[in-house]
Amino acid sequence: MSPTTVSAVITVDGPSGSGKGTICRLLSQKLGWNLLDSGALYRLTALAARHHGVDLTDVEALQVLAAHLDVRFVASDAESEVQILLEGEEVTKAIRAEDVGLDASKVASIQPVRTALLSRQRDFAQQPGLIADGRDMGTVVFPHALLKIYLDASAEERAQRRYKQLIDKGVGASLDDILQDLRARDDRDMNRSASPLKPAEDAIRLDSTSMTIDEVLAAVLEEARHRGVR
Ligand code: DC
Repeated sequence: MSPTTVSAVITVDGPSGSGKGTICRLLSQKLGWNLLDSGALYRLTALAARHHGVDLTDVEALQVLAAHLDVRFVASDAESEVQILLEGEEVTKAIRAEDVGLDASKVASIQPVRTALLSRQRDFAQQPGLIADGRDMGTVVFPHALLKIYLDASAEERAQRRYKQLIDKGVGASLDDILQDLRARDDRDMNRSASPLKPAEDAIRLDSTSMTIDEVLAAVLEEARHRGVR
């Protein structure tokens, strides 16, 4: 699908922990629009590589894996979490593991993998509209989006949020380690040559460091209403 023929798209880009995932899920529920979690596609490619014993330096094999990724997103209803199936196996939780995230960021730095996943991402742009969550949604995948948001927060605040999530889940964690990992991932995502994380020129920039989720959601919805979204 060409980027000019898509239905209405709102893109939300930003670094890990900026609150994009939560905001995108809430926006999609509120507007009744489709949701693309593009990070999941990179995580799925990384997991598929692991399942098939493909080395993360084998660009050709990774490109083939990404192009033929057998994945299904199954939504039972608008409120419940989407189930993700990779080659028929439920991997909804498995792809969220820290080590899969780390592998995903390596896989995501390979241009042929990104190219292989491009049309699959654009195919999500179906009626009545799409909320696209990622790093290059506004810059590369949906350059003609109706509204582009770049959601940021300080590294310290993002690390705190991740730390709290893990502690709430009963998982032991070190705030220092989380902050270090987060900075390393930011560095890789922002400084790679293939579609680096950066705000699109026409993006609205929001800093969620001292905003609540409700405040961020309200700010995005207001921008969407200005553009005729009802
Ligand atoms: O958002 P996430 O943590 O699930 O993303 C996993 C990795 O994939 C992360 O290192 C950034 C990368 N990614 C990307 O390069 N482009 C996207 N559109 C989405 C994610």
